[in-house]
Amino acid sequence: MDKQHSHRKDEHVFLAEKFYQPQAQNGLADIRLLPTNLPEISKDEVSLTTTLAGKKISVPFFINAMSGGSLETAKLNAQLAEVAATTGIPMATGSQSIAIKYPELASTFSIVRQKIPQGIVIGNLGASHGLAAAQKAVTMLQADILEIHLNAAQELIMPEGDRSFYWEKNLQEIIKWLNVPVIVKEVGFGIRPTTFKQLKKLGVRYVDLSGRGGTNFAQIENQRRPAKDFALLNDFGLTTAETLLASQAYAADFSFTASGGIRTALDIVKCLILGADNVGISGLFLHTMIKKGVSGSIELIEQFKSQLRSLMTLLGCRTVADLRQVPYVLSVALENFRQQIQTK
Ligand code: FNR
Repeated sequence: MDKQHSHRKDEHVFLAEKFYQPQAQNGLADIRLLPTNLPEISKDEVSLTTTLAGKKISVPFFINAMSGGSLETAKLNAQLAEVAATTGIPMATGSQSIAIKYPELASTFSIVRQKIPQGIVIGNLGASHGLAAAQKAVTMLQADILEIHLNAAQELIMPEGDRSFYWEKNLQEIIKWLNVPVIVKEVGFGIRPTTFKQLKKLGVRYVDLSGRGGTNFAQIENQRRPAKDFALLNDFGLTTAETLLASQAYAADFSFTASGGIRTALDIVKCLILGADNVGISGLFLHTMIKKGVSGSIELIEQFKSQLRSLMTLLGCRTVADLRQVPYVLSVALENFRQQIQTK
């Protein structure tokens, strides 16, 4: 087993939990929904069904990439997978890069497929990998979907991270030839408009916007630097609300996942209203697993499902697609952002 890389996985989990904030700064509080006073609907008519990378899913949120690559994170993957299998929500593993390099670590990821024989399992790799590695990652998990993460900011702060970023060719080949759908995702810095133009040319259809406001990899990687001398980017990037607004002009070309600091069913509803087809959650599920274990995590997910139905009832929406029609008002700052981003 590779000690240095495995240790990094444990540190990410430890630091994500250390910096976890119950009140996320994802910008979604700056979006106010207008009350529906005559809903004309009953709660049992509401359907939570939506799609994730073109696949039908019965609940519009999932456990996003975090874990695997060490003994500790294998245990976490097994627990998260038990939660996903029990509640019927999809689950992504953390980056499988370490297991491509050290195949003896593959079981720290494939445990997820063992625990979720039927449900949707999502693999994960960085964009520095080519098609061959992507195929190995899919095979390792019998993955239904592969996430490819874009994390230049994280790598540059990470003491042992990459310093050179030529990713477009890899993405293009993976999208073209891989036998499962690919979600291109950020890791908490959001995605700017010109990136959508590049991604479209590369054939990308599914994008996880992963905005700022929850888990902060600038902060986490700076903490891992001996001198802690790279705090420059702690506030870098677009919040989840901002990246969602920035994505709206590209809705015809992509299906969006929203993620970054999701804490409540209301956060999920707001993301769906702003145009996401589904929502990824990492930090909150990590925190809940650490504090309340498997049963507490299952409880939270069942509570979210019920609360989503209540919120959709209140808003008069029978389907996730109906949520797009819900009117909202932005704070002055967010409205200013929305106007400026249209010209960027
Ligand atoms: C992550 N995230 C992540 N993303 C990814 O694409 N590959 C990875 O290996 C990891 N690893 C990882 C470890 C831990 C401990 C956390 C908490 C997160 C990023 C994650 O998928 C997500 O994009 C961000 O964390 C933002 O969402 P939250 O955490 O604010 O809900």
